[in-house]
Amino acid sequence: MNTTTEQPPGTDRQLEIAGRRLTAAEIRALDPYQLMAELGKTVIHPGGSRSTEELLAMAAPGPGQRVLDAGCGIGTTAAQIARRFNCEVFALDISEANLDRARCTVEQVGVDDRVTVRRGDIEQLDFEDESFDVVIVEAVTMFVHRKRAAAEVVRVCRRGGRVVDHEFIWRKPPPPGSRELFMGKVCPGIDFDTEADWTALYQTAGLENLQTTTGPFAMMTPSGFVRDEGVRGTARFVGRALSRPAYLRKLAWLMPRMMRAMPYLGYVVVGGTRA
Ligand SMILES: C[S@@+](CC[C@H](N)C(=O)[O-])C[C@H]1O[C@@H](n2cnc3c(N)ncnc32)[C@H](O)[C@@H]1O
Repeated sequence: MNTTTEQPPGTDRQLEIAGRRLTAAEIRALDPYQLMAELGKTVIHPGGSRSTEELLAMAAPGPGQRVLDAGCGIGTTAAQIARRFNCEVFALDISEANLDRARCTVEQVGVDDRVTVRRGDIEQLDFEDESFDVVIVEAVTMFVHRKRAAAEVVRVCRRGGRVVDHEFIWRKPPPPGSRELFMGKVCPGIDFDTEADWTALYQTAGLENLQTTTGPFAMMTPSGFVRDEGVRGTARFVGRALSRPAYLRKLAWLMPRMMRAMPYLGYVVVGGTRA
């Protein structure tokens, strides 16, 4: 199927396809990113759609190139890359629920003939060395063993190809309480520091000519939210959040804790050429 529709992902149909109704206990246990996907948010990374544009500019995928999106989430960026740049995209994620959502996204965008959605672990990629022209990662490396993940995404990129990653940073040092609250309770298991740390990680992993851009955390600010999801998407998100007390309880717990870290949080897009 080669038709490209402009219908955004994150519709009610996608939410249905994403699966069964979660129990209240399951909703309580969701991390913020899983919660956003569950509520139908389509852009689920710190810098929002603006940082994705920066990532795409840095990755510069070309027609017919093979692109890996490692940790694709609901497949929003993978589908865009296939549609806008006419690439052959592999969209990998470790979560079956997100893979279902990603399959729906690529079908809705009309690029299911160019995007392969399948399970994969960024720490142990099931591809030969130098399998891709471009590898992108958005908001995944900070949740896993960073050195292993960086080594893997560089390994599967061809020499001269591009690897670009987009993750959280602390833009300024947070007060100790906010840091512990964010990393220990809001996003347990997450680990990140500064722009310099991300650059060093990828330099060590084998990238050269490294470039970075940085900016403020935008995914959950009111203006960033509407920019990413549009007015209809925002209304749909709010409607779904209001549809169950368990969603509202989870958001009521999450948002004030998130707000404490927000002034200090930002994003980095770091990319380079495989040496
Ligand atoms: C914050 S979401 C970002 C998703 C997507 N890249 C985006 O920007 O919208 C993090 C994603 O990483 C996936 N993930 C976590 N650990 C992973 C791993 N070891 N290998 C592959 N994906 C992983 C999660 O399932 C989730 O979909």
